[in-house]
Amino acid sequence: MPPSSSPTNPSGRYYITTPIYYVNDRPHIGHCYTTTVADVAARFERLLGKDVFFLTGTDEHGQKVEKSAAAKGVSPQALADENAAFFRAAMDTIGATYDDFIRTTQPRHTKQVQSAFMKLVQSGDIELGTFEGWYDEGQEEYVTDTQAKEKEYKAFNGQPLKRASETNYYFRLDKYEDRLRDFYEKNPDFVQPAARFNEVKGRLREGLQKVPVSRTNFSWGIPVPAEGPGGAGHVVYVWIDALLNYTTALGVIDPGAAKSAGVPADRAQFWPADVHLIGKEILWFHAVIWPAVLMALGMPTPRCVYAHSFWIAEGKKMSKTLGNFIDLPTLQAYASRYSLDAVRWYLLTQGPLRETDADFSYAKFVEVYNADLANTFSNCCNRVGNMVEKYFEGKVPDAKGNHRLDYDAPPHGKGSFDFPKLCADAAAAVGESLDRFDLAGALERAHSLIRDVDLYIGITAPFKVAKEIDQPAKRDQVAAILYNCIETLRVASILLSPVMPEKTAQLWRYWNCSPLNNPADPRSGFKATLSELAVFGGQHAFKTGPQIVKGEPLFMRADSKDPAPAAQ
Ligand code: MSP
Repeated sequence: MPPSSSPTNPSGRYYITTPIYYVNDRPHIGHCYTTTVADVAARFERLLGKDVFFLTGTDEHGQKVEKSAAAKGVSPQALADENAAFFRAAMDTIGATYDDFIRTTQPRHTKQVQSAFMKLVQSGDIELGTFEGWYDEGQEEYVTDTQAKEKEYKAFNGQPLKRASETNYYFRLDKYEDRLRDFYEKNPDFVQPAARFNEVKGRLREGLQKVPVSRTNFSWGIPVPAEGPGGAGHVVYVWIDALLNYTTALGVIDPGAAKSAGVPADRAQFWPADVHLIGKEILWFHAVIWPAVLMALGMPTPRCVYAHSFWIAEGKKMSKTLGNFIDLPTLQAYASRYSLDAVRWYLLTQGPLRETDADFSYAKFVEVYNADLANTFSNCCNRVGNMVEKYFEGKVPDAKGNHRLDYDAPPHGKGSFDFPKLCADAAAAVGESLDRFDLAGALERAHSLIRDVDLYIGITAPFKVAKEIDQPAKRDQVAAILYNCIETLRVASILLSPVMPEKTAQLWRYWNCSPLNNPADPRSGFKATLSELAVFGGQHAFKTGPQIVKGEPLFMRADSKDPAPAAQ
């Protein structure tokens, strides 16, 4: 693949966001997935030495929340408080290292949304008007006549679309058609994957209409200031309210209001965002409406909107009626049996990051867990640790500069290992994959280093050579093999740490080689950046002599005959 041509951020800063989640629902695999992907990206970028800001949060206004609260006999704010706490706890449970959790009912957000709205009224980008069209109540959005026809006048949730008309404020999205087209042309990677960008461009060709951006038929929203031409009684449309979160969290919409609401001033430098990570169903808002709103506000546009696809469960679409949502308690049951890092590995390597949906299936989970983690990563580390203990009393042996091997070994055939180069190439390839937001590719590359070590052990058979370890030449040979293995595994573990922070920290404790500021705390940050840490034999490499222990296996083999983990 060619390198990404999206504008890269030369500042050394990196800002990544997730959607803010609706509080009328409880967290499930979809929400956890997006946040985990963003977390892995954030951890990788920190490892690269970037100054990272990672934002997630909850979307708390709108008719859906108002209705859910009424059905439960509680106030919308009470429902929002309860479920926002659930979402926050969910994000902590999956190990997300977010820097802020924004809630759209917080004054720091509401004040700036009001400022943005009034700025747009003053610039003529928002005006009063009457509109009639097809309305999808569940999604809280109008659909075009063409779409309504295509969808056979059915909403996203299968209910009939409603004919609705309103006197409201409208955002003049229609005015931005040419500018958007031009913007897309100049930023060919603005929306990724490319197939999703084509969908957006295709829809843009149908033309853009004004978008209603206020509501009067319910009150659970941010009030449009009464001094506006529409007077009192309007609340800001939930999508405009929600999209602005990406900027209000940084205080860039109204610095004065943000400052008085406690937003630190130095956050402003993180705008524009490097990646808005979202699910494919909310792409239109992010790829069309959002850049147009930012253009109208005279603000820089984000560098990339990355829209992933959907998880389905055991081959079926997840739905409320089927009751087959992989919810948070189910994920927790997987994590308590196989570890949280194993769940994160499965989500990242098997998930729907690209154009196609992915199936969450128990059988597949066990297969991937055994193949990648128990039989490869864990087993390889354990074998190597074991041999260092057995043959060298746990002291890291001296390779005496022997880091290369040319081999001709049936059934493997001919080949060569050059461990310093293998490690350097893997680290470089991981960096390139990250530039394309190809996280699965980055992890696959890191994992391939472990498979190289496995193959090397298979070919060199140190356990056989060790039978004559009393002979100095054989001892040197085993020493070189094991040093090459342990040092390559150290590099591989660093490359894998963004997805498996707990297990890699555990390995580093056994092997006494933690690259963390505080070996006991996986959140304490790295002593150096990837380019320094990943150098085979470099400053952070294993030195000859220090003691290691093989420790417990990081992942125990799983038995697929066990019943699937289920929520308690
Ligand atoms: N509140 C809006 C987003 C506003 S962003 C300015 C919203 N919230 S949501 O609670 O419905 O969350 C939608 C997001 O959850 C999706 O975009 C996606 O990130 C995630 N997922 C929900 N279901 C999913 C799957 N089945 N699979 C993968 N992720 C999906 O829309």
